Amino acid sequence: MESKRPSTVLLTGASSGIGLEIVRLLAARGCEVWGTSRDAAKLPQLPHFHPLRMDLTDDASIRESFAQAQREAGGFDVLINNAGSAVFGPTALMPVEMMREQFQLLLHGPMELVRLSLPAMCQCGCGLIVNITSLAGTFPIPYMAAYSAAKGALSACSQCLRLELAGTPVRVVDVQPADINTAFHTATRRVAADTDHTRQEAVWEIQRRNMAAAPPPQCVAEAVWRVINDRNPPPVVAVGSFFQAKLGPWAARFLPARWLDWFLRRYYGIQDGSRGS
Ligand SMILES: NC(=O)c1ccc[n+]([C@@H]2O[C@H](COP(=O)([O-])OP(=O)(O)OC[C@H]3O[C@@H](n4cnc5c(N)ncnc54)[C@H](OP(=O)(O)O)[C@@H]3O)[C@@H](O)[C@H]2O)c1
Repeated sequence: MESKRPSTVLLTGASSGIGLEIVRLLAARGCEVWGTSRDAAKLPQLPHFHPLRMDLTDDASIRESFAQAQREAGGFDVLINNAGSAVFGPTALMPVEMMREQFQLLLHGPMELVRLSLPAMCQCGCGLIVNITSLAGTFPIPYMAAYSAAKGALSACSQCLRLELAGTPVRVVDVQPADINTAFHTATRRVAADTDHTRQEAVWEIQRRNMAAAPPPQCVAEAVWRVINDRNPPPVVAVGSFFQAKLGPWAARFLPARWLDWFLRRYYGIQDGSRGS
């Protein structure tokens, strides 16, 4: 169902990949978009686009940038929590600081923006929060435990917000991309590990290949555009290949956990007994 097109959007992670495609699409279709990067020089120069410096791992940076954007825009119809990156390494060896940083970037930072945005959205009688989470929240990726857990946590927060905000004018949508062909894999930081090399390399290589062959980020931008224009959007939107985004959620719902574990081991080339050097 079509509704009045929202005019002001705040989007994190606008310098590359999915966020950059959302900026291009929304700005070309008449929205005013405030978009963030840790380095404002990396942001595009486009009509209807307003660059902002923001580091989601720094609470002061979040609050200062939000206040600046709020002054310039006078309030936002749409908040899109998109920024993110991952760390890759054995779960048991992951330094606690890295775990915390993943949760700050992928959960606490986005939730702080939700808290900052909500009062004005409730006051103006309209508002949409789009959290770009990941299918990794449903299908955790080996060696990406902190990333998968933080994305799953943001999905859970999105559902809680939907329940708590029922009856208000604010809608909350959880957009869950499957593998998408962006710079995400290149940006993933690896934790040096002294065990299990063969298995880790196999999973890393499968991830790299899957992402290189995955659909382009424009498909996520189009999905976000449909959500923005839908008066009653679906609570959860999975985007990506048919296999990952359509069959995957279905399988997670109906197959026993043991079967899913078996399938994921094969999917990531993890053979029983192939411990490596
Ligand atoms: N690509 C996929 O397969 C995939 C699948 C599922 C979910 N996702 C999610 O989709 C979102 C976008 O990812 P992408 O694929 O477009 O990756 P990308 O091309 O690497 O873009 C990541 C964006 O996040 C920003 N960012 C990273 N760390 C940040 C920090 N500490 N503070 C502020 N901004 C930060 C980057 O901005 P700067 O570096 O300029 O600061 C960049 O704009 C992420 O949340 C990712 O988890 C991606």
